[in-house]
Amino acid sequence: MTRHKKKTCTLITGASSGLGKCFAEECAKRGMNLILVALPDHNLAHTTEYIQNKYQVSVVPMGIDLSEKQAPEKIYSVCQQKGLIVNALINNAGLTGCISFEDSPLLYSDLRIQLNMRALVLLCRVFIPSMKKLESAYILNVCSLAAFFAIPFKSVYSASKAFVLNFSKALREELKDSSVQVSILCPSGIKTNTHSNQRISTHGAKGNLFLITPEKIAETGIKNMLRGKKIIVPGFSNRLLLFLNRILPEKIKQNLLYNEFKKELGVCEKEIE
Ligand SMILES: NC(=O)c1ccc[n+]([C@@H]2O[C@H](COP(=O)([O-])OP(=O)(O)OC[C@H]3O[C@@H](n4cnc5c(N)ncnc54)[C@H](OP(=O)(O)O)[C@@H]3O)[C@@H](O)[C@H]2O)c1
Repeated sequence: MTRHKKKTCTLITGASSGLGKCFAEECAKRGMNLILVALPDHNLAHTTEYIQNKYQVSVVPMGIDLSEKQAPEKIYSVCQQKGLIVNALINNAGLTGCISFEDSPLLYSDLRIQLNMRALVLLCRVFIPSMKKLESAYILNVCSLAAFFAIPFKSVYSASKAFVLNFSKALREELKDSSVQVSILCPSGIKTNTHSNQRISTHGAKGNLFLITPEKIAETGIKNMLRGKKIIVPGFSNRLLLFLNRILPEKIKQNLLYNEFKKELGVCEKEIE
């Protein structure tokens, strides 16, 4: 999938900034046409212009709030109307955060449920039938290393990513005899915006141990998606962490997680919305 037939596109959600923008640039480098879905703000316009000026690919911006009930169907019908054929779907949009569950506003959990799980599932559902008609197609669901842990103060986030992991593994099996490959990307903390930078800093040297740039994660993600790899965990230290997760006793593990993630509390008050 280096050069593409006319109008086949990679649809990336949360593509205006952070990891999503890095995916957009990585795909554009490979000559893949793009549909960039994000909130309708200046970030989306800026990223669209940046990619269009730098690469010889077509870029269609779609400003839409993915937490809206009809968003997945709206995106699909705009693609139909514009004659855009999605041969790669990158479900990247997702909200993280750190808060004690009992202090969290209802909207805090609701937004994470809508964006991290509902939008991702329904986008897969609306696009798979047309993707199956293509010779080859790809779904990359952006998960997190958090999917393998039950993280205190990130209870809804880590549970939402565990959902993404299990949903995607099951979907991959259902589609194994089709042309659609499903991959799951599981990065650890990434410095993508001021909130994530602040959160990662609270872990001091430990935070840096697992750090990989968003550009490198996007490159690893796209390369392995095109190879049809099932679970993509960038970085040796992160793979080591998963191994430790399997051998550590549950009680010790939960205590370690509690003490580590308690440090993030109150760091990003602005993020609590
Ligand atoms: N950062 C980390 O430490 C980390 C670690 C592991 C996994 N991940 C996962 O990686 C993915 C990307 O994370 P990130 O840190 O790059 O996120 P980010 O910096 O917060 O970027 C989020 C993107 O999603 C868009 N977005 C936010 N709310 C939206 C909505 N309601 N509808 C449509 N678009 C929306 C944003 O648009 P605007 O720019 O317009 O707001 C932005 O383009 C997420 O799934 C996250 O869970 C992140």
